[in-house]
Amino acid sequence: MNYAFTFARTPRLEFGPRRLALVPALIAGREKAQGFPFAVAALVTGGASFRAGSRYAGLVAELRSAGVRLLEFACAHEPDPDFIDASAAALLNASGGRAERIAVLAVGGGSAMDAGKAIAALCAESEAAAKRGETPPSVKNFLEGVGDRTPSGSTSWLLAAPTTAGTGSEATKNAVISKIGAGGFKKSLRHDSFVPAVAVVDAELALGCPHEVTAASGLDALVQLLEAWTSPQASPLVEAVCASGIVAFARSFERVLADGNDLEARSDMAYAAYCSGLGLANAGLGCVHALASPLGSRYPVPHGAACAALLVPATDLNLRLLRERGGEPGSRKAIAAYAAAARLLAPLSGASGRPEDGLPAALRRLVTIAGLRRLADWGMREADIPELASAAGTKTNPVALAASDYEALLHEAI
Ligand SMILES: [Fe+2]
Repeated sequence: MNYAFTFARTPRLEFGPRRLALVPALIAGREKAQGFPFAVAALVTGGASFRAGSRYAGLVAELRSAGVRLLEFACAHEPDPDFIDASAAALLNASGGRAERIAVLAVGGGSAMDAGKAIAALCAESEAAAKRGETPPSVKNFLEGVGDRTPSGSTSWLLAAPTTAGTGSEATKNAVISKIGAGGFKKSLRHDSFVPAVAVVDAELALGCPHEVTAASGLDALVQLLEAWTSPQASPLVEAVCASGIVAFARSFERVLADGNDLEARSDMAYAAYCSGLGLANAGLGCVHALASPLGSRYPVPHGAACAALLVPATDLNLRLLRERGGEPGSRKAIAAYAAAARLLAPLSGASGRPEDGLPAALRRLVTIAGLRRLADWGMREADIPELASAAGTKTNPVALAASDYEALLHEAI
């Protein structure tokens, strides 16, 4: 048992239907605590679906009637550096150059929440650069594997409210910034202090979420729960959080696909996603996410669809390699985690053998039910596999993988 661990700061969590209505009071509470008002609030949202609904109009009206000066930013796709840089510059200008006087409200899917997280951080970095007499930096300067600067950790106040149940970005310390196409990247801006100050998880916001998004984001959450639980860095607290998330996922994934207006099922999925964010922030992720990044930077495949395509082959491979190395304590711990997850996800399927034996079949069934397009449908070609595999890497897969293992996974997943 790993009883030497760190569990990162978690957001103040407001979980439940209609909790989005608390946002003006949460802003007022923060202003009272810090002793001065915000000069401006950024409302960072995703594409059309939330902005077209009544909850968006209601939120804007409530904020305006509370006297909040609002700037609105729509992040229709995964955030790219130009969007982050331009948004931070506009906000800093509106705040008189004071990042502490900016509130960022990120309401949307993973892309909008990651965009809000990065904008909040870049506002603070830009203010510091201005004080040094330097030109404002680009967010690219601070991305892992892209830039050469380490984030200071300073950031504007950030509230995150998910409208999909998947990435768990409302609970994590990193923002994924992408540039898609040849020479593209999908890299993280990361610092412990980038965990949102407040997470408002209001499952009603997901009621209009399209079927394909619900399926892909739900499987992303499942992969994150499994990968954090089986990580060599999983602490007892991470294990407990992941188990709790998988119970909620198992109870409601099929229900929410059958009826997207089932609020109880949406709440279970929102809870599973939040748990997956806590898990990945504190234990890291495995080989599925190691490959999802290069896939997402090369093709327009949604992150959850890439994860779903890799889930079954990755679980098969990890279990096979772990058994081959079964004498090592780390391998026994990971196999025990897979077995426990299998009992929660598919309590009957492994009844005649080892519990984890039923896991790949149970996962294959969930991926089939989700009905997502495969990687080849998003433009992936067999010829691209060596380059994609060479870009993959993670220290928190339960077993070390070679480039040839990543290639084998991609051949199966395509
Ligand atoms: Fe993910």
